[in-house]
Amino acid sequence: METARAKTGISVFDDMLFGGFLEGSANLIEGAPGTGKTTIAMQFIYNGIVNYDEPGVIITFEEFPQQYYHDALQFGWDLKKLEAEGKLKVIFSDPETALDEIENMEGGFVTIIEELGAKRVVIDSMTHFESLTRNRLELRDIERRFINSLKREGVTSVLLRENDSLLGQIAHVGSKIPFIVDTYILLRYVEIDSSIQKALTVLKMRGSNHQKDIRKYQCTAKGIEVESTFAGREGIMSGITRHTPEDAFIDVFGKKKSR
Ligand SMILES: Nc1ncnc2c1ncn2[C@@H]1O[C@H](COP(=O)(O)OP(=O)(O)OP(=O)(O)O)[C@@H](O)[C@H]1O
Ligand SMILES: [Mg+2]
Repeated sequence: METARAKTGISVFDDMLFGGFLEGSANLIEGAPGTGKTTIAMQFIYNGIVNYDEPGVIITFEEFPQQYYHDALQFGWDLKKLEAEGKLKVIFSDPETALDEIENMEGGFVTIIEELGAKRVVIDSMTHFESLTRNRLELRDIERRFINSLKREGVTSVLLRENDSLLGQIAHVGSKIPFIVDTYILLRYVEIDSSIQKALTVLKMRGSNHQKDIRKYQCTAKGIEVESTFAGREGIMSGITRHTPEDAFIDVFGKKKSR
């Protein structure tokens, strides 16, 4: 039987995921500063509550709670109101506490997830776990334990990860989270004709088919809006594009006349 889907409510993006994230799965969204990671994650939680009746929890390691609520409100997402209605909990924490509170069955986060009946959880961001150790094996173990604890709770999670690459080759990130998660999504900047655009692609999705194309998206006043593919372009994932040979030909010689 086909597993149920947790729709993000972001049109086109759900189509790319063949309907949405698989329920109970762990999904990594990685991108450079300002690519819209927090926005997508908030949108996933907000739409989950408002459109799909799925309560949510946001665990963030950001230092300024008021800023977080303020940023969400810019998109019209009143997180405080949803918290007052008992449909959302935003938890401001640190990596050490978060790991402890989610691993321990009697821990505070587990209690919150269960009392709220949360179906969706966001972690903003997984990168902060790197502050707990310099040892790669130990980091991998911490990340695996954290993600397994979320799975044990049966929630669909969106895990964010920072990537320093602004353009050009994607920087190697030390941890191995992409191997542990079910879905791996990359957000990145691309240079096209001297302007910077944003591109999104689903690199892997365990247990489901997914669209393989690279799509343009924008951060708008309504949140993330996914648009068309980059027709006539090559090299998108290298960060710097060029015309396909056909389009380069058209640029120089114009369209071939049909006889
Ligand atoms: N009301 C708005 N209208 C249009 N764009 C907006 C609006 N509010 C925020 N943005 C843009 O959304 C973009 C994404 O911000 P977001 O905080 O989601 O990125 P991020 O990937 O989480 O960044 P960071 O790595 O710093 O955490 C920003 O570049 C910002 O300019
Ligand atoms: Mg962010």
